[in-house]
Amino acid sequence: IFLLGLIGIAGYLLGSVSGGMVMSRVFNLGDLRAVGSGNIGATNVLRTGNKKAALLTLIIDGGKGVAAVLLGRLIAGEDAAQIAGLCAFLGHLFPVFLAFRGGKGVATFLGIMLGLNFWVGLGCCATWLVVAAATRFSSLSALIAAAVSPLWMLVFGYGSGLLLALVLTVLVYFSHRANIVRLKAGTEPKIGQKKTEPE
Ligand code: G3P
Repeated sequence: IFLLGLIGIAGYLLGSVSGGMVMSRVFNLGDLRAVGSGNIGATNVLRTGNKKAALLTLIIDGGKGVAAVLLGRLIAGEDAAQIAGLCAFLGHLFPVFLAFRGGKGVATFLGIMLGLNFWVGLGCCATWLVVAAATRFSSLSALIAAAVSPLWMLVFGYGSGLLLALVLTVLVYFSHRANIVRLKAGTEPKIGQKKTEPE
């Protein structure tokens, strides 16, 4: 229990490091909160027009999900891997370094899935890409990719991850509540499209 607690705290701290915030400093992008949706994720970094920074944000935020899971597994096995993943996700959404105002967790979610089971992760990434190609909505792609993650777990024999997938999916819907309102109202911007009203 003590070890799992330590792993959880380490995962949370790792998840708290925001790729978007780091990239906005490195590339001098200004205040992400004043751009587009005001989010600190890759989709919104792309709205600054800097594709390289957006890609690096995706890699950092996804990478910390993968890293948390792999480290947890290495140190204490599969339960620890899942706890580390969940805590990294919570760190991204509610980061201690940003007064608990974090991101929406999509890249980190995909990273966690890749780390837990490569094929499940690939299924989730493919789902995101297919919906994004069809609709050009980043948020909708994330909502659908998260919702079908339990399905990919069943398909690829990672049933022990079902509860975690459900919890993460609920959190993804929570973090996208403003996007859901916009999607319903028909005002959600498409990928790459700038939006002037921050959330
Ligand atoms: O990655 C977050 C994405 O699903 C939505 O981002 O900035 O359009 O609210 P944003």
